[in-house]
Amino acid sequence: LLEAALASVAAFLVGAVNPATILARILGKDLKHSGSGNPGATNAGRVLGARWGVVVGVLDVLKGLVPVLVARQLFGTVPALCVGLAVVLGHIWSPFLRGQGGKGVATSLGAILAVEPWFGLGMVVVFGLLVWRMRWVAGASVSACLLLLGLGVLTAARWVPFGTRETGVWCIVLALVVIYRHRRNIELWISARRDASSTG
Ligand code: G3P
Repeated sequence: LLEAALASVAAFLVGAVNPATILARILGKDLKHSGSGNPGATNAGRVLGARWGVVVGVLDVLKGLVPVLVARQLFGTVPALCVGLAVVLGHIWSPFLRGQGGKGVATSLGAILAVEPWFGLGMVVVFGLLVWRMRWVAGASVSACLLLLGLGVLTAARWVPFGTRETGVWCIVLALVVIYRHRRNIELWISARRDASSTG
């Protein structure tokens, strides 16, 4: 238990290191005051260029994937789930960024790929299709999280023959945290729809 707790604290600190912010600083840009202000792959793509967005996305995915794979190998599945949650929470509420980290999409995807690869691949497919159709990354992110939430509920309730109750609950928690972190995007979407329906 002590090992799992220490690994989770270490994972939180790893998660708190934000590749988008570091890269932007190296390139002489300020992500916090450009684009959406979010230190994530999408905003890095907007402000620094698409290539850097991809670099940030890959680094954020690896930041979720590698610690969970290592923890699973060393300590087993349940401690690895704690590590996965910790790395995502560190990314979102980074103490190095005064609690203003990213939105946790890529990092939680990495953690999920390490535990339930098929769930992660399902999220990637939904995300890819929706970005392509809607050209709206936050909407695609929230939709992929809604898929994860549904899969988590099915798994936690043992209505599907894969995963465990613990991994199901973990998927539910991750999905809710990431959706909560998109509340500003959701509010903007609701008010844009309201404006569109009142003007036309
Ligand atoms: O990368 C997170 C994404 O879902 C939304 O980012 O910058 O459009 O608020 P952004």
